[in-house]
Amino acid sequence: MQETILGNSQEAVTASSSSSSHKPRLGFLGVGWIGRNRMEVIAKNGAAEVAYVSDTSPNNAEEAMKFAPNAQLLNSLESILEHQELDAVVIATPSAFHAEQSMLALEAGKAVFCQKPLGRNLEETKRVVETARRQNKLLGVDLSYRYTQAMQQVYQVVKSGELGQVYAVELVFHNAYGPDKAWFYEPKLSGGGCVIDLGVHLIDLALWSLGFPEVKQVNSHLYAKGKPISMAEGKVEDYATASIELKTGTHLQLSCSWNLPAGQEAIISATFYGTGGGVALKNINGSFYDFVAERYYGTKTEQLVSPPDEWSGRAGVAWAERLQKGEGFSEEAEEFVKVAEVLDKIYGR
Ligand SMILES: NC(=O)c1ccc[n+]([C@@H]2O[C@H](COP(=O)([O-])OP(=O)(O)OC[C@H]3O[C@@H](n4cnc5c(N)ncnc54)[C@H](O)[C@@H]3O)[C@@H](O)[C@H]2O)c1
Repeated sequence: MQETILGNSQEAVTASSSSSSHKPRLGFLGVGWIGRNRMEVIAKNGAAEVAYVSDTSPNNAEEAMKFAPNAQLLNSLESILEHQELDAVVIATPSAFHAEQSMLALEAGKAVFCQKPLGRNLEETKRVVETARRQNKLLGVDLSYRYTQAMQQVYQVVKSGELGQVYAVELVFHNAYGPDKAWFYEPKLSGGGCVIDLGVHLIDLALWSLGFPEVKQVNSHLYAKGKPISMAEGKVEDYATASIELKTGTHLQLSCSWNLPAGQEAIISATFYGTGGGVALKNINGSFYDFVAERYYGTKTEQLVSPPDEWSGRAGVAWAERLQKGEGFSEEAEEFVKVAEVLDKIYGR
């Protein structure tokens, strides 16, 4: 694999007051599907020590403990934070709790790695980032697709300038199953539907690759069960399109959905078109896990990266490695705010 770009590109990094070279001791809050997966990868990788686990579901907690037999099971975030020697908290609870729990951990002097979305809206996201800045703590968000080999390659091609003027980016994420847990469909608990769940990744990938240029204008159309969302109050959107114009003149087109009759499990892509050619991240065979990177020259395609790639949990490992080096707050966290700003505009709030 080519050198990983992430974790090495931060512009402003300050040493944390609690910097040390010991293996970071982590508390895991919320160990459902994704929390358990991230815990397993971090435990196997050895980048950090799984010290404490807490989940409101005893079954989920018990399952997770199988991956960390030496960890201590506790009954709340507060009881995790009582442990002075704890370095950081990894949060994978339903989205509504992310901001509040992240702030509680940061206020207690702990670094945080949180699942996306960091907040349900711009205001929540800003508050978390401000707290991390004030406390000088490393704040990570699981923007997992950045860490696929395919996206790392796409990023390098865009950054190299070989595409010339990148004038269009097409972003697609259709999850034809849709989430299987009830809380995702409850706006207060999820903050929104497919845009905040899936679109968040794509907006991040596009802005990150383009160097986070300013956004000029956003237009969007949201649907729930086939009806424009304004006619389906109290529901989350299950289909969305958005047109995002950047100050540089580049245009981003986003389409995302849950439960679309897509004829396959998933369609995921981020394609960058420039005056000198194109490059794309694409899933293959409808897979949620297998990605290729393709380079386009007129009508010709060159494959740059193909599976297999064990990318699941890589973002958490990279964050833990930075933590071990003693990193405090990084200005990169402002990127979470910039993405949240676009999401708020898509939602018209
Ligand atoms: N980064 C990614 O690519 C990615 C992928 C999937 C999901 N996610 C995000 O991960 C988060 C979790 O998703 P999931 O599918 O694992 O959900 P889930 O429902 O399977 O897991 C949530 C867990 O949190 C527990 N929980 C609920 N309230 C709690 C509380 N107050 N304190 C402690 N535990 C609590 C639940 O019992 C459950 O075990 C979501 O925000 C989702 O958006 C991110």
